[in-house]
Amino acid sequence: MKIAVLPGDGIGPEIVAQALRVLEVLKADGLKLELEHADVGGAGYRASGHPLPEATLKLAKDADAVLFGAVGDFSLDTLPRHLRPEQAILGLRKELQLFANFRPAVIYPELADASTLKPEVVAGLDLLIIRELTGDIYFGQPRGIRTLENGEREGFDTMRYSESEIRRIAHTGFRAARKRNRKLCSVDKANVLDTMQLWREIVIEVGKEYPDVELSHIYVDNAAMQLLKNPKQFDVMVTGNMFGDILSDQASMLTGSIGMLPSASLDANDKGLYEPIHGSAPDIAGKNLANPLATILSAAMMLRYSFNLEDAALRIETAVKRVLADGIRTGDIWTTGTTKVGTKEMGDAVIKALTA
Ligand code: IPM
Ligand code: MG
Repeated sequence: MKIAVLPGDGIGPEIVAQALRVLEVLKADGLKLELEHADVGGAGYRASGHPLPEATLKLAKDADAVLFGAVGDFSLDTLPRHLRPEQAILGLRKELQLFANFRPAVIYPELADASTLKPEVVAGLDLLIIRELTGDIYFGQPRGIRTLENGEREGFDTMRYSESEIRRIAHTGFRAARKRNRKLCSVDKANVLDTMQLWREIVIEVGKEYPDVELSHIYVDNAAMQLLKNPKQFDVMVTGNMFGDILSDQASMLTGSIGMLPSASLDANDKGLYEPIHGSAPDIAGKNLANPLATILSAAMMLRYSFNLEDAALRIETAVKRVLADGIRTGDIWTTGTTKVGTKEMGDAVIKALTA
């Protein structure tokens, strides 16, 4: 099992380092993993002039799975868009056709107090957001900034979804719901946008093949409100690229911290890229402050989804639960009465729990 390891920028290298230490423990116990590193994002740009260097893309294509840290570097924000660090992750998603992004928002009982919402609103939350990842306004053409006849500049992007793109992510949503509580909520903006009217039509059509799954529809603005009001009404949510980007950040805070949420981005054959949903957090980079748990949990997702190693995945997840139960916290999830530790010490604690 060959894994391409792409730490990226900001806190990326620190958090990926902890996930790799966890994987090393499993390797020592017999798991056959081959890890190969490459630069990506700002690191890729600095090393070879492009955020997604060719060698990095090739490594990712040849590997069985990709473990990704984060990209983003303020000091490179003035570069033309195609050279900015974010293009690396967008390019990988597109090139590897990772159209299905799984973003689970699960709350650990120990962290109910770390959420800014009342514990009774979030306790027991187990939500899965499925975000379409290779279409929508993120990739739609035409786009650009042009000068109008009156001399004023105008920015424009295009929201677009083809039927087949909607159909395949809808199937992903229904199949995922089948493995859970059989409730799928499709998030759109069909009241205003034609693209989203088509989205709803196709989701309804696909739904006929899944009579055992209860399908509902919600407008994205209402979804944002309902996620705060009563998040436990949702089981699986399926949505487009941009709405999914926004709602998954929002959902992460229900769980106490964006530093806790892993994600899997899969192609049609379940080959995947695994990454925390948070960004590169340049403000805390290199300070041993970042929470490595989202990345460690992403590694667990990798073992489960790409390698079918349920036991190994559970072993990591159980170790994380153990650490939280022991009151060990990075700053982002710290509450009075718990022990505040750094990135590396959190890695130590997970490894200790793994080997206990
Ligand atoms: C995410 C991130 C990315 C996105 C950025 C870094 C391009 O916010 O994975 O959610 O917008 O998809
Ligand atoms: Mg995002």
